Order: sequence, then structure tokens, then C-alpha cells
Amino acid sequence: MTVNTAVDEALSDKARAFNLFNPPEDYFDNPSPFFRLLRDGDPVHTQEDGSVLLTRYDDVRQIWRDVSGLVNKREQFCKRFGEGPLLEHHTSTMLFRDNPDHDRLRNIVNPFFSQNSIQMLSRFTQEVVDREIEKVKKMGEFDFVRDFAFRIPVALICKIIGVPVADADHIQAIGRKVLFPLNPKVSETAIAEGHDAVTEFKNYLRPFLDEIKSRPTIDPTESILCAMAAAQREGVEVSDDEILHMCIVTLNGGHETTTNLISQSIHFLMDDTESLSQLRGGEVPIAPALEELIRFITPLQLQGRRTTQEVVLESGNGTLPAGTEVVLCQASANRDERIFGDPDKLNLSRRPNNHVGFGAGIHVCLGRPLARLEASIAIPTVLRELPTLTRNGKVRFQHNTRFRGLELFPVKLA
Ligand code: HEM
Repeated sequence: MTVNTAVDEALSDKARAFNLFNPPEDYFDNPSPFFRLLRDGDPVHTQEDGSVLLTRYDDVRQIWRDVSGLVNKREQFCKRFGEGPLLEHHTSTMLFRDNPDHDRLRNIVNPFFSQNSIQMLSRFTQEVVDREIEKVKKMGEFDFVRDFAFRIPVALICKIIGVPVADADHIQAIGRKVLFPLNPKVSETAIAEGHDAVTEFKNYLRPFLDEIKSRPTIDPTESILCAMAAAQREGVEVSDDEILHMCIVTLNGGHETTTNLISQSIHFLMDDTESLSQLRGGEVPIAPALEELIRFITPLQLQGRRTTQEVVLESGNGTLPAGTEVVLCQASANRDERIFGDPDKLNLSRRPNNHVGFGAGIHVCLGRPLARLEASIAIPTVLRELPTLTRNGKVRFQHNTRFRGLELFPVKLA
């Protein structure tokens, strides 16, 4: 690999010493200074496993849009996870499939996430938010993540998939164990738990699929499970396992990131009286404000790709040989001062705001209209209905390099 960027040597040494596999303790509270260090000192950062971490906006975007970049990681994941259900899952979903399989799977579920389909869920979303607001009003003191933020996206995604929302906590618990092993360095225990969790998740979903498949007629618009079972019956190439893995990836993608977006939006707004009053007073509409919150928070921080041919970075930062495992840090790209003025400050009326919080290219987030709908209803409703909401203790960020989220957000109503 060649790196062209000329940077200050001392800064470069400090940046080269950064290790995403073992980040400093204060990284999780605020990774932004570390990203800045990498962007300025070592934007094409070679990691201990030979992969390359890209942190500048232009480089991240180029690789994301580059059709030669593969996502299938069977070889790499096999070394990390060994054979078994975890490997099966992370090589079966569209998230880790290349074309033509990626498009074959995505096309079956795409209709559920069109702007029109999602808009039809507005009323249901407002009802869910209102119901959860009433619950926390009665509680008075509660954890904002567990007792409120999580309840919104999980209700929506359970409805879309076709499973009972009463199972939300179970779905979250096993989902986390499936996702956690995607972090750069995890224990053997976490990997073993990941294998078990995939089996448990498939066993949980299978009876729903079996029941749908036993129906004489299937309405494909009823749920994703129905749409996939109907497609299979009509001869579309999709196996039972692919259906189950699709439901797992969509259930997981459908709640964790949006929970983190809603809860951190409120967390950061609490300390930013200017932004808070702009939103409360209607000075800034929720749509652009939400894009800025997504840029600022970037709930999903990292993505992986592998180059299939030599890639010359158009920024002039260097050249990646064919076969390089690339880690794209969209969280850093979204704070790149070369693109966003004063990037560590929330600016709710920021224009333009071409953040990469939802990714780019063929894997661009499937659920982005849903995430936008949920957050654009939940955040203003919280600000309106819970005007006395304050912290009731210290927040704690998750120790997770892929997902930026709050583990604990104790609050009370004064
Ligand atoms: C704020 C909330 C969300 C964020 C920040 C987010 C972020 C992302 C990103 C960055 C990707 C690209 C992955 C890649 O390039 O490898 C992605 C893909 C995906 N997202 Fe989201 N997401 C969010 C909400 C949702 C929701 C609500 C769903 C529910 C369906 C969802 C489902 C998916 C799926 C299935 C993919 C894989 C798409 C593919 O491989 O073609 N996401 N998401």
C-alpha cells in the first residue's frame, strides 16, 4: 500500500499508534478527537490485522461507491468465528452478500421501505410514541433508552416483520449477541454466545414462517415474512434459511441504530440550549435538524469492504492494492472539517448536509425512511410532552466500536 499524504511527523506517529482493536478508555465517551487525529495524521491507517482504516470523507465515500468493493467476508469471518451458525448468518444476509444475490434478496423486501409504504405508518408511529410517552409520564423516573427510545423502533420493526412486539426484549437480547462479534476484537465467549444466539433467533422465527407457509393463500403485503414466503411460493429463488436470516438482519438493523439515534438526540440536545430552543420554537424544521443529528451521532460508525482491484484514492491520499480489507469509518467522515464547517458542533440548519450516516452505494440503508419517520415523530413529541425531562444520574456509552449508543441514560420528570 502506498500513502501519499504529507503530514507532520509527530502527529503522524501519534495517529499510527491508535489501535481500534484496543481503543483508549475515553474513546467510547467521545471518539471524535481520535478520528480527527487519524484524519490529520494517518488517514490511511494500517491496522494490526493488515486491514486499512479510512477516516476522511472523500476516501470513505469513494470506496462505498466503488462497485469493485466486496462485502462477502466468508474467509475473514471463518477465521474469526469458525464454522457454525454465526458464520452462516453473517454470510447469508444481503448486508454481506455481493451481486447478484444482494439484489435478489433486497428486491423482495424493498417495497416495504419505499417512501409511500413508510408514510402509511405515520399514524401508527405517532400512536406508539403517544402510548410510550404516557407510560413514562406515569413512571416519573426512568431509563430513557430502555423505557422509551427502544420501545418505538422495536414496535415498528416487529409489525413490519410480522412478529409480536411483546417479544421485543428477547429479540433485543439475542440480536445484540448476533451483532457484537462484528466488532474488531471480541472474546471467545462472545463468539460462542453469537453462535447460540443465531440458532435461538432462527428457532424463534421458524414457527411464524411455518404457519404462514401452511396458509392456502398468502398476502404478501401483510409482513416481510409473508412477502418472502409468497415470493418463494411463486418461484422466486429464496431459501427458508435466507428468509430467516433476512428477518434477523432487518429486526436487528431496525431497532438498535434508531434507538441510539433517538436517545442520543435527546442527550445532546439537553446540553445545547440554542438547538433545543430552535427546535421547540419551530425555527428549524425537524427534517433538516434530524439530518444534522444523524451526521453528528452517526449511530452506525464503521463498515467493511474488500478491494477487488487496485484502488487509487482520488483524494491523492494513497493506493490500496487488490484484496485489501478496508474499514470505512463513516463516523469520522461525518466529522471531516474538509466537508463540514465546525463539525463537532450541532448546527441544526446546516446546509448542505451530505452526511454518510446511512452509507452509500448498493448497500445504502434499506430502513432509512423508517428511521427518519420514527425519529422525526419521537423527538418533537418528547420535547413537547416532556418539557421537564432532565438527567437523573450519569449516562454511560456502550463499549462498542460499531454501534455508538447509550447503555444507560437515567432521567426524571421534574
Ligand atoms: C438511524 C438509524 C440507522 C442507521 C444510522 C443505519 C445505518 C446503516 C448503514 C450505514 C448501512 C450500510 C451498511 C453497509 O454499507 O455495509 C445500513 C444498511 C442497512 N440497514 Fe440501516 N440504519 C438505520 C436504520 C435502519 C432501520 C430502521 C432498518 C430497518 C429495516 C435498517 C436496515 C438496514 C439493512 C437491512 C441494511 C442492509 C442493506 C443492504 O445490504 O443492502 N436500518 N444501515
